[in-house]
Amino acid sequence: MTTELNPPSTDLSLRVEARRVRESACREATQRGELGQFFTPAAIARVLAGMFDVPPPGALRVLDPGAGVGSLTAALVDRARDEGWPVTLDLTAVEVDGGLMRALEATLIECEDLPLARSATLHSADFITWGCEQLRGGLFAAEPELFDLVILNPPYRKLNTDSADRRRLSSIGIEVTNLYAAFVALAARMLAPGGQLVAITPRSFCNGPYFKAFRKELLASTALRRIHVFDSRDEAFRDTAVLQENVIFHLVKEVEQGSVVIESSSGGGSGLTHQRVVPFERVVHPGDANTIIHLVPDEAHADVAGRMGALPCELPTLGVAVSTGRVVDFRVREHLRMEAGPGMVPLLYPTHMRAGRVRWPVPGGKKANALADAHETQKLLLPAGNYVLVKRFSSKEERRRIVASVLEKGDLPGARVAVEHHVNVFHNLNAGLPLEVAWGIAAYLNSTIVDLFFRQFNGHTQVNATDLRSLRYPSVDQLVELGTAAREAEHDQNTIDLLVERFVPSLTDA
Ligand SMILES: C[S@@+](CC[C@H](N)C(=O)[O-])C[C@H]1O[C@@H](n2cnc3c(N)ncnc32)[C@H](O)[C@@H]1O
Repeated sequence: MTTELNPPSTDLSLRVEARRVRESACREATQRGELGQFFTPAAIARVLAGMFDVPPPGALRVLDPGAGVGSLTAALVDRARDEGWPVTLDLTAVEVDGGLMRALEATLIECEDLPLARSATLHSADFITWGCEQLRGGLFAAEPELFDLVILNPPYRKLNTDSADRRRLSSIGIEVTNLYAAFVALAARMLAPGGQLVAITPRSFCNGPYFKAFRKELLASTALRRIHVFDSRDEAFRDTAVLQENVIFHLVKEVEQGSVVIESSSGGGSGLTHQRVVPFERVVHPGDANTIIHLVPDEAHADVAGRMGALPCELPTLGVAVSTGRVVDFRVREHLRMEAGPGMVPLLYPTHMRAGRVRWPVPGGKKANALADAHETQKLLLPAGNYVLVKRFSSKEERRRIVASVLEKGDLPGARVAVEHHVNVFHNLNAGLPLEVAWGIAAYLNSTIVDLFFRQFNGHTQVNATDLRSLRYPSVDQLVELGTAAREAEHDQNTIDLLVERFVPSLTDA
């Protein structure tokens, strides 16, 4: 199904858009970065406002945390007015940057002038502090103030474990590693039963261990109704140079979880959207301890997910495990060596992975080539063997997310090898794998179909061991056949895809 995204602009939205462009232009890049000030263009703000279900008649409390110049509140008010919602709105905006107050106030006054807006309140405050206080009941109020509609484009920044924000959030049981997740978690807690939340955020929360607690909290208290995925990385915020894959999602508090609408657009808010309805079990697989959120935007992708899901093996059935490389280089700085020599063990970084194999050493590079064979480094070493290595961070230029190479036992001198932390290693009880199995796993991981599937649940460039564990794999026999052929072949994309098609036919046959 396809829908048009871009209804006409109104005076209110035009004025707020002019305000946004002005405030955005007069902010230094450093301040924009520190406060995550990537304001929402009007077309995207309309997509967010359009995600809410039309609420039942009555007085609605609306919250806009990190409000910027108020673009999201204005878009919501605009929609409610255009569609004649039988409601009154009490608007609350929270913004930390004092420099934005005049612009935000002007937007709120314009909203308040409309008949359906009953009141507008502006809190010049840090939302984490304000929200935590609200939820604790504050000094005087016994019950926290709750909201019926929350709309947000939160700032993003890592939250260090020892930061005041983390402590404040932990004190009310919220464990998050990024400011955007903190905003969403707090906002979700401030929703009244049946209340709706719409947010635009990076899609990095959908998978990965750092957001696991956040996903669990969110899905325990709200139903995921709809997710909008932008097809291309930087379209949505083109004029503010954001390089993130964004999603917009719609949550409803304390209602039964039904099917989920997944839609995608080419970004910018003006493209056509493809929509489909997917049972929740396809989005979050039942019994998945990691609660990974799979985004399956269209039939072709669903097909890929179905085929991947039907593969026969998980890693433990193959006798294979995957872990992050043990060498965190700054912790063993005194043992790093740029050149290999006697009394040293080869050390592998991503830079040593080239075209499906390991090229070692890389002389004259920035990274060490060896680790001293010392008492302190013993626990960091693996016995020489055949291993599959996967980069943890693929660069933006890399065509695929998963980049796998094979380390063969004879590739390196000596009886041991060390692997750096930016590399994931496939092993068998911390020892090597049968050669053909290693090649089979690498070819499978480097195939286009695995890449397509992986992108459905991993929106950033990081490939964690948990992600690789969550995949299903072909049978041992298939991996051996695939690996035997892949070892002899060129490791270019076309060849790999043809081999995977031949030896794992269920992934591609009609
Ligand atoms: C990504 S911008 C979005 C602004 C606005 N909601 C929009 O959509 O255009 C995030 C906003 O949050 C504000 N902000 C950053 N940290 C904040 C905090 N701790 N408390 C409240 N606002 C904050 C920034 O100043 C910025 O205006």
